[in-house]
Amino acid sequence: MSDDHATTYLSDYKQSDYVLETTELDVVFAPDEMDVKAKLTFSLREGTAPGQTLKLDGERMELVSISVDGHPLEESEYIVTDKSLEVSSPPEKFVLETVVRLKPEANKSLEGLYRSSGVWCTQCEAEGFRRITYFYDRPDVMSVFTVRMEADKSDAPVLLSNGNPVESGDLDGNRHFAVWHDPHPKPSYLFAMVAGDLAHISDEFTTSSGKHVDLAIYVEHGKEGQCAWAMDSLIRSMKWDEERFGCEYDLDVFNIVAVSDFNLGAMENKGLNIFNDKYILSDPQTATDQDYENIEAIIAHEYFHNWTGNRITCRDWFQLCLKEGLTVFRDQEFTSDERSRAVKRIEDTRDLRAHQFAEDSGPLSHPPRPNQFKEINNFYTATVYEKGAEVVRMILTYLGKDTFRKGMDIYLERHDGDAAVIEDFVKCFEDASGKDLSHLQKWYTVAGRPEINVSHSYDAENKRLSVTLAQTNKATPNDAEKEPKFIPIRFGLVSNNGVDLNWNSVSGAQVEGDLMIMDQAEHHVVFEGVSSKPTLSLFREFSSPVSVKSDLTMEDKLNLARLDNDPFNRWDSLQNVALDILVPAAKVGGEDPSPQDLGKLADAFRAILIDDDVDNAFKALALALPSQIVLAEHVGTDIDPERVYDVRRMSLSAIASMIEPELAAAYKSLVDDADYSPDAASAGKRALKNQCLGLLLAADDEKGSQVAVAQYHEAANMSDRSAALGALASAGHPAAKEVLAHFRENYCDNILVFDKWLSLNAIMPDSAALDRVKSLMDDPQFNIENPNRVRSLVGAFASNQVQFGRRDGASFEFITGLVADIDTRTPQLAARLLTMFRSFKKYESTRREAARSALENLKNDSKLSPDCTDILERTLNG
Ligand code: PHE
Ligand code: ZN
Repeated sequence: MSDDHATTYLSDYKQSDYVLETTELDVVFAPDEMDVKAKLTFSLREGTAPGQTLKLDGERMELVSISVDGHPLEESEYIVTDKSLEVSSPPEKFVLETVVRLKPEANKSLEGLYRSSGVWCTQCEAEGFRRITYFYDRPDVMSVFTVRMEADKSDAPVLLSNGNPVESGDLDGNRHFAVWHDPHPKPSYLFAMVAGDLAHISDEFTTSSGKHVDLAIYVEHGKEGQCAWAMDSLIRSMKWDEERFGCEYDLDVFNIVAVSDFNLGAMENKGLNIFNDKYILSDPQTATDQDYENIEAIIAHEYFHNWTGNRITCRDWFQLCLKEGLTVFRDQEFTSDERSRAVKRIEDTRDLRAHQFAEDSGPLSHPPRPNQFKEINNFYTATVYEKGAEVVRMILTYLGKDTFRKGMDIYLERHDGDAAVIEDFVKCFEDASGKDLSHLQKWYTVAGRPEINVSHSYDAENKRLSVTLAQTNKATPNDAEKEPKFIPIRFGLVSNNGVDLNWNSVSGAQVEGDLMIMDQAEHHVVFEGVSSKPTLSLFREFSSPVSVKSDLTMEDKLNLARLDNDPFNRWDSLQNVALDILVPAAKVGGEDPSPQDLGKLADAFRAILIDDDVDNAFKALALALPSQIVLAEHVGTDIDPERVYDVRRMSLSAIASMIEPELAAAYKSLVDDADYSPDAASAGKRALKNQCLGLLLAADDEKGSQVAVAQYHEAANMSDRSAALGALASAGHPAAKEVLAHFRENYCDNILVFDKWLSLNAIMPDSAALDRVKSLMDDPQFNIENPNRVRSLVGAFASNQVQFGRRDGASFEFITGLVADIDTRTPQLAARLLTMFRSFKKYESTRREAARSALENLKNDSKLSPDCTDILERTLNG
């Protein structure tokens, strides 16, 4: 393992010695080798002693020429290493001109300038710009960019960059050029260029102050017909951001380009967002409801970055969650407003618990704002994004909607044009509210999640409710001692008929309306004047990202599942009942759940299924047992994934059998032949229908599979088709095989649909899964250089916990071998795959040791990238 990669510390932050005023690029596109000319205007920062060496970042390129103020430099006047360019004692004000040579075709890392299906494109966040030219590649160095692009007209009729188009024209020899100017100073990570032969759709938007904006989405030829939903989502996002946050768009054009080779979801480059095409392309025959929802959310997310990220950027990469946590929060709010707030909150919490909780309770645990990193690419995590969003949400919960908006207004106005830090953000809310928020700020800097213990009693005679709340904060890597956290708790005292009870007075904690604040290790809260015995409903809306252990009985929880006026807690209480029943059973040597207990869950499922007052999307979520990952997280140690799987499967079958008539009736009533529409109500109806289908299959193999196979063949859209297939595949039903073959034959010309097929193959829990995954890598449509293919096959295999977690360690060896291979081309992708091992220490000993030895072999055998080395070291040592 190579470990020459230094650790970067937050405490070492220092401004650049020189200020960069303008950046002019001149780029002539060519496939194998091409030159980038840069003209950078620098001046010595005020207060800095003259004569400082100018030190720029740069890697993987060849310096062709260099001059200062028009004079070529002697070799003794600069130093080039494989990471930097140093110019000794430049003048106090000067123009640096460089020419560098790049090899876009050979670049497989999907960072810097590369080619995707023949299209030249760039990815600069976090540190990709240093592979395009020598530069201060850090987010606090902002400059005005002007870019001239030139290419062959047939190879690249489309030439796009940031900002506004200012000039274009034809040149001799079938060539042409375009000049783009971005008036907003920006850091290098927001730079983008695209040159290629692309089709597009266009539309327009008029901002609230009457400015006209031309909108376009560029895709491969032939795919123009699959962009309408993305465009519709963009226009709704632009409108929503004006109405909800007063954020207006600030250029004449907004362009989106979809490419098929992309490391993550999408990128918010100023005025030129670049997307993984999976999050652009949709039509009813190829995309599912989930795809439509993802496209809408990611379009919104990248668009919202225009203010939270671009107009206000980050001082350094430690502040990543300043833009990401806040922007995830904003896209969550957008989806909540466009669809169902309660459903969105449940989905987000479910996903946070599955991914962020697992990350946070293992060796890769880190705070939303870490204070050290080896490889910043490894910090685009659930903690930075999703937990970061939860912290913003806690500020909202604590301050209330109006004060929160006031704080956002202050932030957007005060820091416009800045490269800011978390402290700046929090200060705006302090100024808006007049409150001290230093306690909430700590959520940004401390890893791990508090566990809250709740016990309570009701004294009927004195009409007094006593609640004891205690928090514990376990140690995490780099972080042993922890102070108690500040925890906003939304709550209610639920009466027998579901109405919240009042109280006359309360002591022991700050309580205002339905908000209680926990800021000590322990609170004894006493409510006086509570007229009857309530059921305690805490953490409504998931008001803080914590774990809770309470003394509520199963009956109490079932009561809440039925009665709570907070839909989130109805869902959550039922999840808790399921956890109480399944988790003890899922431990090694655990006893199977009792039919009586499962009967209670079945009754609760039935009650929700036939309740006319709740919407279908909510029902679909409520009629689900906690996922295998969540169950394992609760089992905690000595996990045997087979046992977890068996307990979950047998429980599901038992519950489903008990409510089979109701499921069958519901299923029937939900079938309709209306034309496909992706709206929330229609999607909710399909979600419930398909949830019922899965349960019918669990209830009765024979009958259920007939229904599923029939639905598969009759489906008029991809949502219903893939749901039927997914139900068969995830249950490992023998009928899945034939249907999968049919799907392959008939639908997989579309590569994104092929990806769905890959995932279905990978998640089937039968013992042939590993061999299947291996052999699918030889499929002619598979391509190990494409992240979507790899994630669909191998990433999905990670959620096949039984077969990934094979006792003989064969899957562990396979994955580490694959990581070593992929790492030679696409390190970011390899490092992400390697996080599949983040919970390996929680396995029972045989699997744990098998996983450890696979990781040790990887460490000893390979010359790994810094990306993989970082993950591997933390996984083994943490
Ligand atoms: N900044 C992108 C986002 O909106 C994520 C991203 C990071 C994409 C790095 C590519 C590379 O979340
Ligand atoms: Zn983002």
